[in-house]
Amino acid sequence: MFVPSSFLFLLVVLRLASCTQDNVHVFTVATEANDGYRRFIRSARHYGIEVQTLGMDSEWKGGDMNGRGGGYKVNLLRDAVEKIKDDQDAIVLFTDSYDVVFTNGLDDILSKFSKIGAKVLFGAEHYLWPDKILKDQYPTTVAKGARYLNSGLFIGYAPQVYEILKKPIKDTDDDQLYYTKSYLDKELRDKLKIQLDHKSEIFQNLNGATADVKLDIDPTTGQGVLKNVNFLTRPSVIHGNGPSKLYLNAFANYLAGAFINNECPLCKEDNIEIKENAYPIVSMSVFVEKPMPFFEEFLDGILSLNYPKSSINLFIHCNVPYHDKLVNKYVLDFGVEYKTVKLLLSADNIDEKEARKLAVQQAKLKESDYLFYVEAEAHIDDHDLLIDLIKLNRSIIAPVLVRDDNLWSNFWAALDENGFYARSHDYLEIVKGSLK
Ligand SMILES: *[C@@H]1O[C@H](CO)[C@@H](O)[C@H](O)[C@H]1NC(C)=O
Repeated sequence: MFVPSSFLFLLVVLRLASCTQDNVHVFTVATEANDGYRRFIRSARHYGIEVQTLGMDSEWKGGDMNGRGGGYKVNLLRDAVEKIKDDQDAIVLFTDSYDVVFTNGLDDILSKFSKIGAKVLFGAEHYLWPDKILKDQYPTTVAKGARYLNSGLFIGYAPQVYEILKKPIKDTDDDQLYYTKSYLDKELRDKLKIQLDHKSEIFQNLNGATADVKLDIDPTTGQGVLKNVNFLTRPSVIHGNGPSKLYLNAFANYLAGAFINNECPLCKEDNIEIKENAYPIVSMSVFVEKPMPFFEEFLDGILSLNYPKSSINLFIHCNVPYHDKLVNKYVLDFGVEYKTVKLLLSADNIDEKEARKLAVQQAKLKESDYLFYVEAEAHIDDHDLLIDLIKLNRSIIAPVLVRDDNLWSNFWAALDENGFYARSHDYLEIVKGSLK
């Protein structure tokens, strides 16, 4: 049989590639499956990456991560890597999880890693943390790129990684300092071929680097990707280290297939169905704090919600004497249909702040599954609103209120360091409603 030699070559290469992938061990540390962790695992699955989570449901012993700490991560990883430390071909990929998102698969990561030629490669960042005194010990040969080691993302061959991990560390000592010291030890660095990913070929640490990155759409897949426009790279793992977590939160709405071709597949994930006769109990808290035009229409919107009133605990706070009468009439006419009713009129002299607290207390007291806030400024036109919101199965959902032909919204999408408005990369699209 005639087989073109290039075809054979292709077969061999494919085999080799799949072998290496089989021998990659992806580790992370997480002690609780919080939202950040779930986002991380979702992104890994999106790219077919299987992650071994170390420490799940155990007590976190690594100290306060807002300051120094994290040695616990090293100690968990050492135990895991010990089992593969003699396998020359095994590759260890370690990432943090709560503030990390994959943006490409292992094929991509491995081919970049082999091109770079290091045996152990750490992500790099612009800031030196935690020990500034070490600055002078850093190699001076880096012409371009982030200079300093970040320990939240790294990849390496198992024997070399284990060699680094052999050194003991206390659970509460700082993991980044620990790895940094190995890197700054020139003899060890040369022997184990440790390098930093200065140009974010694989690892993008966001702290101090938000001007380096730009969200882009991959034209072939329609998916959001993060590019490093400073070094013209397309990193494969993104880390919202330090205070850059908010940036990661904003970017991650578009990464790992969360957003494709202007649609939001992420929004359709983990949704729930509501079975007939098994409606969750909702505390609906209605706030009437200012005189409002079209007030009867507002009450009509509440009334015509497509949800069994027998599953709603109604709470109304009316602080406007002029509206008391209609509110009272509403309760007289329809109150019996609700599971329970709590009515506070202007004569009760309870201010808005107090009323909002009471609404939460009331919801807890009634053991409601959900708390639904409605203010008289906002009319409910969509009768299925409540049911549709519940089906989305999210812990909190807020509306985006905009004014036509006006760059105004109640939702900002980004904050500056003082907690005030900052322009986010997607603010205009959000306000104009061009995101679906
Ligand atoms: C609803 O969301 C929770 C997490 O908040 C998740 O654990 C659960 O699986 C979701 N339900 C469904 C049916 O997906």
